Amino acid sequence: MHFSVLAKLALAGLVTLVSAAPTIQRGVSAPVTHLPDGLPFPSPEQIRKIEKKAHGTLPNTPLPDHISEEGIVNLQLIAFNELMEVAFFTQLLKNITNKVPGYDIGDEKNRDFAIQSLRAILGTTNFDEQQEELHMLSANLALEHVGVEPILPCEYVFPVSSYFDAIVFITKVTDLVMGTLQDVVKRFAIGGDFDLAHIIASVIGNEGEQTGWYRMQQGRIPSELPFLTASALSFAFTAIQEVTVPGTCPNKDTIPLMTYAPLYVLTPPGPETTNITVAFKPDELDEESTAGSLWMTYTNQQNFPIVVTLQIDSVDDVIIAEALFPYDEHLMNGFTLAAVTRSPGPFENAEEVAKATVAAPGLIIVK
Ligand SMILES: *[C@@H]1O[C@H](CO)[C@@H](O)[C@H](O)[C@H]1NC(C)=O
Ligand SMILES: *[C@@H]1O[C@H](CO)[C@@H](O)[C@H](O)[C@H]1NC(C)=O
Repeated sequence: MHFSVLAKLALAGLVTLVSAAPTIQRGVSAPVTHLPDGLPFPSPEQIRKIEKKAHGTLPNTPLPDHISEEGIVNLQLIAFNELMEVAFFTQLLKNITNKVPGYDIGDEKNRDFAIQSLRAILGTTNFDEQQEELHMLSANLALEHVGVEPILPCEYVFPVSSYFDAIVFITKVTDLVMGTLQDVVKRFAIGGDFDLAHIIASVIGNEGEQTGWYRMQQGRIPSELPFLTASALSFAFTAIQEVTVPGTCPNKDTIPLMTYAPLYVLTPPGPETTNITVAFKPDELDEESTAGSLWMTYTNQQNFPIVVTLQIDSVDDVIIAEALFPYDEHLMNGFTLAAVTRSPGPFENAEEVAKATVAAPGLIIVK
């Protein structure tokens, strides 16, 4: 393996990936082990407090008495994700409040985005944390309503150590979530869970508003794409687990979704056709099966997934591979979900890609 690749792995927070244990590198701070406001089971008074801070209420319309099987998996995934987001925003706000190095936004005037106004916004009118708390509660309450065990929080460590990193990280995660919620709505529709589909449509809008605000802080236009990129539940399930401390998710196993080997994009592309380098560590692939039997599949916007050849550069503790990112041909702006697949397709949609995936999701944002 070239030194430069190792250096990039280290930069991507993957130092431990190249050693025996495929765990993500832990930050210097202790993991988030407790959620605020009595979560995940707040009292009625605590819920009222959360609602005031969130600038709005939980839906008071009745929950459906029957939810389809796929619909239940949807709610489990949503709760699993929102618990992680609550932990993230809790720690982010704490870092900013305590002026942890890298989070003293006032000291970073030179960054080419409007830091000063940001500080004011964050201090007084950032509702993200409490709004995510309500998203999580609404999913868990619906599960309880139909007699399914609510999802419990894990311990979390985030691969970020500055305000800017944190915003870039949560932008990617939220893009993935907004793609996944499209799949959620489709599954609710198939299962006849129309009231829940309705509620999730309102949540997608909220997540989009948040993302527009994160994007502006990175000098990007707020509205990313005319049709946001699709994803599927297992991709989000895998990505969330990458920021949990292994062995700390009490009932993750009740969520019947696939978990893939993580996929890291080591050389994020810009707005041009270029080759990208990725790293992954599949669980069960012998060397023979990796040679010429894997493909890179990109999902972007509402288009058919794009399949390209994956060229394996080296098979060591991790596999380093290269693939073309055909930006010009497909105008691959905004969020692209990369997946290493064991089939060249053709794939109908992200859900079909998920069924043939070995390592994913690689999260790419161009412009
Ligand atoms: C908060 O700061 C610590 C120390 O730099 C860091 O390890 C952690 O990942 C940060 N969390 C967030 C959400 O920014
Ligand atoms: C990508 O890599 C392949 C194989 O190494 C090479 O033939 C091709 O020219 C590269 N494409 C670009 C756009 O760099």
